[in-house]
Amino acid sequence: METDFLIVGSGIAGLSLAIKLSGIGSVTVVTKKSRDDTATKLAQGGIACVLSQEDSFVLHEYDTIRAGDGLCHEDVVRTIVRQGPSRIMELEEMGVGFTRREDGELDLGREGGHSRRRVIHSGDFTGSEIERVLVEKAMNNPDIQLLEDFMVADLITLCKLRKTGSAGPEESARCKHRGEERCLGAYCLDSASGKIHTILAKATFLATGGAGKVYLYTSNPDVATGDGIAIAYRAGARVANLEFVQFHPTCLFHSKAKNFLISEALRGEGAILIDKKGRRFMEKYDPENMELANRDMVARAIDMELKRSGAECVYLDISHRPRDFIVQRFPNIYKTCLKFGIDITSEPIPVVPAAHYMCGGIVTNEWAETDLTGLFAMGETACTGFHGANRLASNSLLEGLVMAHQAFERTKTKLSYFKKLGKIDVPPWDSGGAVDMEEAVLISHNWDVIRRLMWNYVGIVRSSKRLALAQKRLEPVAREIDQHYWDYIITRDFLELRNIALVAQLIIQAAAWRHESRGGHYTMDFPCKDDWKWRRDTLLSRT
Ligand code: SIN
Repeated sequence: METDFLIVGSGIAGLSLAIKLSGIGSVTVVTKKSRDDTATKLAQGGIACVLSQEDSFVLHEYDTIRAGDGLCHEDVVRTIVRQGPSRIMELEEMGVGFTRREDGELDLGREGGHSRRRVIHSGDFTGSEIERVLVEKAMNNPDIQLLEDFMVADLITLCKLRKTGSAGPEESARCKHRGEERCLGAYCLDSASGKIHTILAKATFLATGGAGKVYLYTSNPDVATGDGIAIAYRAGARVANLEFVQFHPTCLFHSKAKNFLISEALRGEGAILIDKKGRRFMEKYDPENMELANRDMVARAIDMELKRSGAECVYLDISHRPRDFIVQRFPNIYKTCLKFGIDITSEPIPVVPAAHYMCGGIVTNEWAETDLTGLFAMGETACTGFHGANRLASNSLLEGLVMAHQAFERTKTKLSYFKKLGKIDVPPWDSGGAVDMEEAVLISHNWDVIRRLMWNYVGIVRSSKRLALAQKRLEPVAREIDQHYWDYIITRDFLELRNIALVAQLIIQAAAWRHESRGGHYTMDFPCKDDWKWRRDTLLSRT
């Protein structure tokens, strides 16, 4: 297959980009399950954006940088925060219905780490409303081809082709002498037929979401297996900040509830955290901000309480707010909890932390460009420098939306370059002598091993010893998976396993390299922040 633009992923970044790019070329969107099976759809909180007189760009930037704990790229923060209002207006024009107050103004929610109310939302199902509108727009656009059940196995890159002799002399010279690596598209598995398609594109955009499934407990959908990070890394792109996994403090604790988040917006509206005896505990950890402290702090506080008391969960209580307010503001959470026998208007909700957001990812510049020419990355799979070491609540949909726009702008300016690119003969996928994997247990066992290991050894609180052990235990598992890759015909489950294994290894390596506690990375061996500036100044003054 050939297309001008190949987009991998159908969440907010992928689809909003597809709609924009369709005006300047042919667009193919591949998504590995159904079109709306995305993390975007599950987002409850909303989109952080400066829209009120009492707020300012500087305040939003300040809150983002403070949460990022010293690792945000300030120029990127400025770009994203300041584009917020225009991008939100585009969503509204497309038909996204955000909740408005009686006076007609947008209702602004509050979440941890924000100094002002600035989270626009559609009740507590913001992501699902956005996804609905974007899917509808994309499906009705004749220039967008949306392929469901298509999963990228690997990217096709020029230098790899050169090694196999498929690239022409001019292209080979670019690789050899300029070290330029270019992405030519991707090999995609069509899960329905089992066939691997070669999709060639002038530019490829990864918008594959996060990697929560690397952990045993996560708020993420099943599709969040770190695919973008894994395939970009294998193709030679840099990845960064993978040690900064954000754990959401409050996922519903119930044996039958899978991955159900209890939005931080509840704490924004006054919900308090209590232990099983009804005692409020956040004052021990952050007396100033209490339940609205940054997420890393609240998640660690809960982790500490659980370890100290041996309890299975703590509780989030909003029952002191009027019943009508709760039902109207949080209809989705109210109904879902009721289904599990919990009436949140009259009783506390049992909650535990779970892996929620990957702050690191594929390194990009502020135009979403990666190290490979023709390869872009956006949204949770990318590391733009916006989130630093810890993402501020509700900044992720904003980042996905703005970075998709940035990628669009860059593609427009490089359009003549992309259109002039010559055709390269790419050999079809060769599965050699691979045979069917007859025993699914080969996948399910390793799937479980990795996720349990990551939860227990590379979780909210880490130590050098546990990281070293995790690294050692993962090595043979990763080797076995690599071997299977050549021996067996690939399936989606297998590709996902291969990706979580690689991303787990990368997270562990990144965490082991960071000899300090910062943002979402906390290690008992280096509990304090290493003050790099202080060290540099001291060293300079000594020399
Ligand atoms: C939430 O609603 O608590 C999640 C929002 C986010 O992760 O930004």
